[in-house]
Amino acid sequence: MLLYEGKAKQIYSTENENEYVVYYKDDATAFNGEKKAEISSKGILNNKISTIIFEMLKENGIESHFIKSLSDREMLVKKVEILPLEVIVRNITAGSFCKRVGIEEGLVLDEPIFEICYKNDEYGDPLLNDDHAVAMKLATREELKFLKEETLKINELMKEFFLKMNLKLVDFKIEFGKDTDGNIILADEISPDTCRLWDVNTNEKLDKDRFRRDLGDLVEGYTEVLARMNNK
Ligand code: C5P
Repeated sequence: MLLYEGKAKQIYSTENENEYVVYYKDDATAFNGEKKAEISSKGILNNKISTIIFEMLKENGIESHFIKSLSDREMLVKKVEILPLEVIVRNITAGSFCKRVGIEEGLVLDEPIFEICYKNDEYGDPLLNDDHAVAMKLATREELKFLKEETLKINELMKEFFLKMNLKLVDFKIEFGKDTDGNIILADEISPDTCRLWDVNTNEKLDKDRFRRDLGDLVEGYTEVLARMNNK
């Protein structure tokens, strides 16, 4: 049964009450849904790329909702209740950070920047600090501390992983959920829809900015990312 439909994915219940199926769609949206397109095979690429990343993270001790891949577009995941937070890490300046503070794109940061945003389309996913998140009862201080520590570990693992395939991990967004035992684990997806990835030598953008900023064919970029993952 379809439980939830988002911009890029659908979530289905299964016969096992502790498991869901995630179905990756071909829809692409940007600027809070203002720009929309259907891009044939994007869902397949994101499912495959997310699978490889969740597996790599698991091998390195990071728990996630991922159980196994079921088909080209579907993965079986643990049932979680998604926290209404978008957790972002920046290693190189880009995107909304540049727009918000006027800093130029492409500066390598001395330390990663950790951000949390309130997942709310109506308010445009506003940036929050810890006090806001606690006041809004979105998470406790202990949970926020865990989210930051876990996210920075994920950043180190992903940075190294992508660097091996000649890609710079500029920034990314992840989401966490609470499983049926109350543990907070990594959830959602990790793909070029949710990460900025630039070629180390040319700075060519191989992620969703191709769609957001009309920088080239999106499928070509994502296919290149997947090919490098499979050849590493
Ligand atoms: O737009 P911004 O610069 O804040 O995005 C930072 C990172 O988070 C980018 O990699 C972007 O793809 C990702 N992101 C996302 N979903 C959002 C907002 C940002 O995947 N709603």
